[in-house]
Amino acid sequence: MSIVALAGSPSANSRSTVLLHHVLNRLDPDVERSEIVLRDLPAAALVRAKANDPLIRRAREQVAEARLVVIATPIYKASYSGLLKTFLDLLPQDALRDKTVLVLGTGGSPAHLLALDYALRPVLAALGARHILDSIYAVDTQFAPHAIHGHVAHDEIVERIERALADGPIALRPPVDARVIALAA
Ligand SMILES: Cc1cc2nc3c(=O)[nH]c(=O)nc-3n(C[C@H](O)[C@H](O)[C@H](O)COP(=O)(O)O)c2cc1C
Repeated sequence: MSIVALAGSPSANSRSTVLLHHVLNRLDPDVERSEIVLRDLPAAALVRAKANDPLIRRAREQVAEARLVVIATPIYKASYSGLLKTFLDLLPQDALRDKTVLVLGTGGSPAHLLALDYALRPVLAALGARHILDSIYAVDTQFAPHAIHGHVAHDEIVERIERALADGPIALRPPVDARVIALAA
């Protein structure tokens, strides 16, 4: 079992990435994992769709090797981030076939709760994903500021992530205090 985590926010101090790190820190230490910070990929290669750029090629391989793909994105203009789209556009057509996918989204407004379902889910399906776990959507008010990590998610979000992970194919750490694990990132 290996896991790839895609951080789809252009922002360095990102709430959606906090959720992503929470998931990574809940995994059993023996689970192989890698994180791709999409904003750190070469911008020119992303916008010019250069799939053969060495860093893009490596990122594509990491996705190909993973059994679980965890995607974190902010909601931008009632959809997922354009940064994430530039990367998804560089994946092969069946890149997510036989993989489980978990989507984590954050937005300023509860009105865009369904954006992940109507905007991102069809794209994941087009990439072959057939097992998509219930997505997690959190609004900015469900985070508190944190001196080291920038943000920390409220307990209700942490509990929703726990429930989503329980439905997945992933070995987790024993269930100690999940918030403590999240802050250990
Ligand atoms: C360019 C831009 C567009 C945004 N559009 C929306 C939107 O349409 N709906 C919404 O709920 N929040 C919107 N937001 C707010 C972000 O989704 C929200 O602050 C989110 O938590 C940011 O995630 P991040 O910290 O991981 O980047 C927008 C923010 C930016 C910067």
